[in-house]
Amino acid sequence: MTDQALVELAFTMLEKSYVPYSRFPVGAALEGTDGTVYTGCNVENAAYGSTLCAERTALVKAVSEGCRSFTRLAVVGNSADYCWPCGACRQMLREFGADLEVLAANREGAYVAISLEELLPHSFGPETLG
Ligand code: THU
Repeated sequence: MTDQALVELAFTMLEKSYVPYSRFPVGAALEGTDGTVYTGCNVENAAYGSTLCAERTALVKAVSEGCRSFTRLAVVGNSADYCWPCGACRQMLREFGADLEVLAANREGAYVAISLEELLPHSFGPETLG
């Protein structure tokens, strides 16, 4: 699958977002090493802190299906700027490898590619625990 196709899959998730509070939909598409793609959207909650981001939705779907190794993540929000994964999502993704390629897109469909290592340098991961 091309980068463009992965970004387009993330776009399809915007309509699934449950965002009555922020009105800011986010879509994600996470590619497993075997090529399977897991999609996600943000799911908000009246107890705001219980909100789940699109990237973590995709990640938890993948891990719960037995996939723990990933190559690329596309994420898009309804913003003029690229939609960068939040800190909590970066850390959750980091658990499964720092060399993930992140495609951060804006609402026009433009995107930039950056590694998770760049987004979360000097990170804490499972290797640290020994
Ligand atoms: N959001 C995501 O889904 N992913 C991110 O990485 C950043 C923030 C969501 C959470 C909330 O539903 C909305 O965007 C506004 O913060």
